Amino acid sequence: MNLVIIILFVITTTIAADHRRPVIIDTDADVDDLFAIAYLLNVPTIKILAITTVGNAFTTPFYTAPIVLTLLSKLNCEYGVPVAYGESTPSLLIPGYTVPITLINNVNKYFQCLNATIDPSVQPSPFDAVELITYILKDSNQPVDILVLGSFTNIAEAIIRDRTIVSKIGTLYFSSDTDLQRRRIKKFLLPQIFDASGILVDDVSPNVWIDILAAQRVFAAGIRHIVIMPIATQQALPYNTTQAQAILQDKNIHLKPFVYKLVMSFATCLNEPESGLRWWDNSAAQLMVQLQQNNTKHGFCTKFLSNQHLEFILSPFAGQNFGSEVIDNKNHLTNVQICTKANDQIFLETFLTTISAKHSCQYSNKYKDRYDIVLQKKLLKK
Ligand SMILES: *[C@@H]1O[C@H](CO)[C@@H](O)[C@H](O)[C@H]1NC(C)=O
Ligand SMILES: *[C@@H]1O[C@H](CO)[C@@H](O)[C@H](O)[C@H]1NC(C)=O
Ligand SMILES: *[C@@H]1O[C@H](CO)[C@@H](O)[C@H](O)[C@H]1NC(C)=O
Repeated sequence: MNLVIIILFVITTTIAADHRRPVIIDTDADVDDLFAIAYLLNVPTIKILAITTVGNAFTTPFYTAPIVLTLLSKLNCEYGVPVAYGESTPSLLIPGYTVPITLINNVNKYFQCLNATIDPSVQPSPFDAVELITYILKDSNQPVDILVLGSFTNIAEAIIRDRTIVSKIGTLYFSSDTDLQRRRIKKFLLPQIFDASGILVDDVSPNVWIDILAAQRVFAAGIRHIVIMPIATQQALPYNTTQAQAILQDKNIHLKPFVYKLVMSFATCLNEPESGLRWWDNSAAQLMVQLQQNNTKHGFCTKFLSNQHLEFILSPFAGQNFGSEVIDNKNHLTNVQICTKANDQIFLETFLTTISAKHSCQYSNKYKDRYDIVLQKKLLKK
């Protein structure tokens, strides 16, 4: 009888696990991405299959995977999710533009600033990010959602390598990152999002312009559903520790000491005033969860635009249409949804409540059971 109960329990938990929505997170390992990952690790309705890193944005390429691995380790989930190194060369950068080294260094050193020791023994994936994305999608018997928190370089490369994976992508969610040097860039490169009546919804997104050709390839690939959290909407989500403290107190939320420091040190460790910071990419993670739960009424994103087409004008030189190219989705391959209005209080309450979850790691936490290691074994047997 006991055995039957145990078997039933195992079967039930296995079935329950299958209901989680499979997700790949592609990240440049910037601090707002770390918030997003810490949050998503605690969301019980998703299953993170892999975290793939991209090295051409706001972190030094070599630091991308170790930063994420360190975060997982601090959250007692060091072997729960594979972390793969990815591409580090953009296919097109704006002439003369580089992300300021001081900013990159501050991101690289975030854990040092938190006085958190790094465990160098935690292993990144034996797969490269592009390889892992490709194999995961080919291996999956259900659609996998992809959350893009950095440039599109890895995803574009995976699609180029094997176009059959496109049909395995459920929804692609993406965030537009910081508005660094927005005004200057605007003159050079104009990725533009128009609504159906031709009104400009938002213009420059740094995660797009870091690798504009990759974005063009991903948007034109025929992915059935793309959801965008644009920079304009993220402006309504200020990074405000006073507001966060008040919520912690009002809702009686207790964060573990490391999680508290992780979330509250953004301004101090980056040496920036809070007024210049937003929750940025973290909001794309919450938008993904909100939409996966079909929650268009009560989530932090309160207004959407749907069935839009995307239009990109590649114009590397100011005032010239040299190399310009326009793509759209008039062939209806892709349905685009954009969050146009967000409520900061709901956002922050949801975020803080979720990252305060008591359980340590909802993933099996042994190297040999890690998704990529199991996958590697399977491939070696063939
Ligand atoms: C790290 O330690 C230093 C020295 O003890 C301290 O001044 C600083 O506030 C600590 N950083 C954080 C984020 O706690
Ligand atoms: C931060 O939040 C507090 C409390 O909600 C508010 O009074 C203050 O104006 C906010 N600061 C900024 C810069 O928005
Ligand atoms: C949301 O709606 C889709 C499509 O109608 C459905 O497949 C999915 O199961 C729903 N998800 C939830 C969590 O209700």
